[in-house]
Amino acid sequence: MSDLFQHSIQVILEGQADSGAYIACPSMPDYAYCWFRDGTFIARAMDLAGQPESARRFHDWAAAVICEREAIVERALEKAARGEPLSESDYLHTRYTLDGQEGEDEWPNFQLDGFGTWLWGMIEHLRQGGDTRFPPIWGQAAELVARYLAGLWRWPNYDCWEEFGDRVHPHTLAALYAGLRSYASFTGRTQYARVAKQIRGHILQHGVRDGHFVKYIGTDAVDASLLGVAVPYGVVPPDDPRFQATLARIEADLRQEGGGLHRYARDTYYGGGEWLLLTAWLGWVYAEIGQSERAEELRAWVAAQATDSGDLPEQVPVHLNDPPYLEWWIERRGPIATPLLWSHAMLLILDVRLGAGRGPA
Ligand code: BGC
Repeated sequence: MSDLFQHSIQVILEGQADSGAYIACPSMPDYAYCWFRDGTFIARAMDLAGQPESARRFHDWAAAVICEREAIVERALEKAARGEPLSESDYLHTRYTLDGQEGEDEWPNFQLDGFGTWLWGMIEHLRQGGDTRFPPIWGQAAELVARYLAGLWRWPNYDCWEEFGDRVHPHTLAALYAGLRSYASFTGRTQYARVAKQIRGHILQHGVRDGHFVKYIGTDAVDASLLGVAVPYGVVPPDDPRFQATLARIEADLRQEGGGLHRYARDTYYGGGEWLLLTAWLGWVYAEIGQSERAEELRAWVAAQATDSGDLPEQVPVHLNDPPYLEWWIERRGPIATPLLWSHAMLLILDVRLGAGRGPA
């Protein structure tokens, strides 16, 4: 196996606390938390890379965090049913400290995608291990999350980049669709399959413009996270013409020949550079549709961004969308997050899809 593959496993294991939580990035204070979104992709990568025990520990942590917040879930559902606005203490936060507490500083915490992703990824973990039932606390957490998502999916909330909180995002809806569909098929609770179907219908009706999926309902711009609509969330198969058109727009608008992927055209975070996890994700999509040469090219680009010690950053500051914002963010948060565990996770997933057990990086 390549050095980078092994090093990625190492970085992730070192970034996993005794509690089971994965830190987003050990070198940036704002990222010293565990996100449900990052964490689930990291756990999925560890499952695929032959480290299911690490994934199990993360899911244990996640299930406990959710079960401890049963009262919050009930309150969110009651308020939502009455159409009342939700305040900071009425919903599940997107990130927690490694020992499972809410953060104290201000953060755009109302994000639903991570919980859909968790439901999907946790069930993938069980299926991979041949389990047909939830361990008790996981089942309790899964039911709370399924009810939470079924009650709130129509609500605008921050996207996976923690922005545009007044919008509804097809990527987020796709994550909820995947989670609820997996939950329904794993448990036989068909009411959740019905909700998943409604969500899918909503995406196809409102989240497509000019034949491609859009960043949020009401724009015609794309976002690289729309890759998830097909892989892994499966709202449509990757050869669906609407997804193919999205892929073409992503390539045209968010990537320069031979480079990595931007999140979206107007992104200014650290100047809006090229993201490793997204470039690996694009490779994952190509690997799924049998275009392994393209996938290999993208993998090579990601590997070439590693630091001398093999660490993968969140993004690299090249072909910046808005250069002055690079310094602006460095002054506030410090250097670009490195190593980002989610970047390492996506590299692992891509490697496994390309048939891990590869030669040197
Ligand atoms: C990204 C999120 C991510 C978080 C931690 C943010 O900058 O927009 O998607 O969950 O960093 O990695």
